[in-house]
Amino acid sequence: MGTFVSDDLAMTDNKTSTRPDTWPFLHSGRLQRVMHAEGAYLYMQDGSKNGHRMLDAGGGAIIVNIGHGRQEVAQAIYDATLNCTYALPPWLTPEREALAEELQQHWLPKNLNRVHLTSGGSDANEAAIKIAVQYQVARGKPEKHQIISRNLSYHGATITTTAISGHAVRKRGLEPILNTYPTIETPYPLRCPLGPNHSGATDYYIEDLEQTIARVGAENIAALIAEPLNGSSGGGITPPPDYWSRAQQVLWDNDILLIMDEVMTGFGRTGEKFGYELYGVMPDLLVGGKGLAGGYAALGGVYSTDAIAELITESSYDVMFHTLAALPQSCAAATKVLQIIREEQMLSRVKSVGKQLMDRLNDALGQSPHVAEIRGEGLLIGIEVVRDRETLEPFPEQDNMTNKIVGHALGNGVSFYPGGTGDIRDIICIGAPFIIGDEEIDKMVTTLKLAITECTRQ
Ligand SMILES: Cc1ncc(COP(=O)(O)O)c(C=O)c1O
Repeated sequence: MGTFVSDDLAMTDNKTSTRPDTWPFLHSGRLQRVMHAEGAYLYMQDGSKNGHRMLDAGGGAIIVNIGHGRQEVAQAIYDATLNCTYALPPWLTPEREALAEELQQHWLPKNLNRVHLTSGGSDANEAAIKIAVQYQVARGKPEKHQIISRNLSYHGATITTTAISGHAVRKRGLEPILNTYPTIETPYPLRCPLGPNHSGATDYYIEDLEQTIARVGAENIAALIAEPLNGSSGGGITPPPDYWSRAQQVLWDNDILLIMDEVMTGFGRTGEKFGYELYGVMPDLLVGGKGLAGGYAALGGVYSTDAIAELITESSYDVMFHTLAALPQSCAAATKVLQIIREEQMLSRVKSVGKQLMDRLNDALGQSPHVAEIRGEGLLIGIEVVRDRETLEPFPEQDNMTNKIVGHALGNGVSFYPGGTGDIRDIICIGAPFIIGDEEIDKMVTTLKLAITECTRQ
């Protein structure tokens, strides 16, 4: 659930290594030391020259979309550094203009052509929240400032994005300073209170949205922030197919903006450019991060309509930048990463490889007494592990099942990403690079099957 623990890998320190009690800041198990990375693999320290090979099935934190170590991206970063190391974030440079053009020509929907760049996903969500509130104030509706979020979600690590996230584990020890925000239920068909995959699930979750709006008052609400389908917080939980079109109508009827957080789902991860395309819904503010630069640079962004940006400009409000936002090097990296995805037709690859992986996982684990669901889209896949598949009872939190399974797989050469929020748990996420093939699919499936079988044996 957000921390990596592996007791299975023996990591010894050598003379050149950092003292393990000084870095990282906190310790939660033995250190993993990556010496090198290439393609879909990490090479871990184990005494040999390059270390043993570890399949990066989580793509780091579900970010390494095109794989590690592409020469062209490194060259683009090198060239940008020499051309212009730094310029104030709101100013134009050739690298920034090239990225804006790539985004507008090939990635963003036509109505979301205003680009505000940040240095990551958390600050992009912060900026989207600011923009939503400033827009409402600029319209003469300052009372419309509440942000609704969802009870299972993750939107970032700043104080505000932690507060709006439905992620119990990541709030621990911070409760005294976290504001509370109105929340709706994340549509979670498997655990719908009406029953698993109930035919009334959409009605149930839409009613919850309507009731929350009625309770808070539409006149007090600026926006709803949500992922189109859950990233690692829920492990690829997908809403019922008609949920979003109905939710959008409710938001329109109540004059509430939709901020779609696509930090994890955006830029091809689901096989579409953005996850919202799967559900026939159109955000007012779209937020991206991770896959935008694919792990090659720190970059995030908010994309908005002209109308929103113009009203904020007319009111002379500022959407303040972060000093390291939109670095020319990061923009150059992102442009090259996005071009590679297009030129190598990786979106269709994500769909076909994702389907192949999903089929193999279903064959291997679909009947396991401890697997409740295998779900997701494209190469964003979550496997929910439970004590009892019939009742959906989870393993007790103190069993640390997610970390046991992830640790077991690390010991066998595969790095999965731990998902869940504490309340919802024992979710193993796959967010592999888009370049994986048969060998990697095979390795993921056999390693995960062994890890789940052995760790759940009572
Ligand atoms: C959906 C979502 N939003 C926001 C964030 C925060 O992004 P970052 O870690 O780049 O600040 C994440 C990170 O996992 C995420 O998955």
